[in-house]
Amino acid sequence: MNTVLITGANRGLGLEFVRQYAKRGWQVLACCRAPEQAEALQALANDLGGIEPMALDVTDESAINSLAASLKGRAIDHLILNAGVLGERCATLGEMTQAEWLSVLNINTVAPALLIQALSDNVAASEHKTIVGLSTRVASIADNGSGGMYAYRASKAALNQILVSAAHNLKAQGVKTLAVHPGWVQTDMGGDKATFTPEQSVAGIIAVADSLTPGDSGQFRVFDGSTIPW
Ligand SMILES: NC(=O)c1ccc[n+]([C@@H]2O[C@H](COP(=O)([O-])OP(=O)(O)OC[C@H]3O[C@@H](n4cnc5c(N)ncnc54)[C@H](OP(=O)(O)O)[C@@H]3O)[C@@H](O)[C@H]2O)c1
Repeated sequence: MNTVLITGANRGLGLEFVRQYAKRGWQVLACCRAPEQAEALQALANDLGGIEPMALDVTDESAINSLAASLKGRAIDHLILNAGVLGERCATLGEMTQAEWLSVLNINTVAPALLIQALSDNVAASEHKTIVGLSTRVASIADNGSGGMYAYRASKAALNQILVSAAHNLKAQGVKTLAVHPGWVQTDMGGDKATFTPEQSVAGIIAVADSLTPGDSGQFRVFDGSTIPW
């Protein structure tokens, strides 16, 4: 049986990843800050088999290491680094603070790096060996024609670098990485007016992850498979 681990699995894209992987019969390690309060996730776990809600605040380094210890020897086919924040209070000149910057970097950048470090052996031991980081088109420096979103753009551009480095450093173990833009999606972060539903976006991301070859590792793609300039 194949296994996926998803961070931020209680709502938005993370919850939709849980639904789609469970429906395809994968074992789902559904990590979120407060599983006991995650009603939608609990309801899914009751409806569909194979979902294991697990507590993980991605900014808690000791919790990441404890999770890795508890999963020692267990294969993870797809590692979905999904938890993220927009950093709305750190988006424009005049409002930025060090505390807000560090909070955004901790969630969007540092946590994915520590999770890759902690779980890369689990991914390497799997059949599919794929790490997916939820990036965004606004992380593209080539695409930055309007400025703003300082912490979000920078934290996700740094995530992209982490995924490229991991593509190089884990290549010998057969592990592939992907930085993916999910599109503008109808979630709490994307809002009601967003273009795509979580169903559309997640189905696309899983298809791209499934078809990723070793030669594709480290690429920056949209959920429809097209590439984004750095
Ligand atoms: N929606 C879009 O249009 C869009 C576009 C581009 C990229 N993305 C990226 O896609 C990913 C998912 O976005 P979304 O739209 O689903 O966002 P969302 O609806 O705001 O959900 C964010 C998820 O991240 C979790 N999270 C935040 N801080 C966390 C922490 N410290 N520890 C554990 N989990 C934490 C949240 O958990 P809590 O409920 O506990 O806060 C929630 O599950 C993000 O990385 C985002 O940057 C989204």
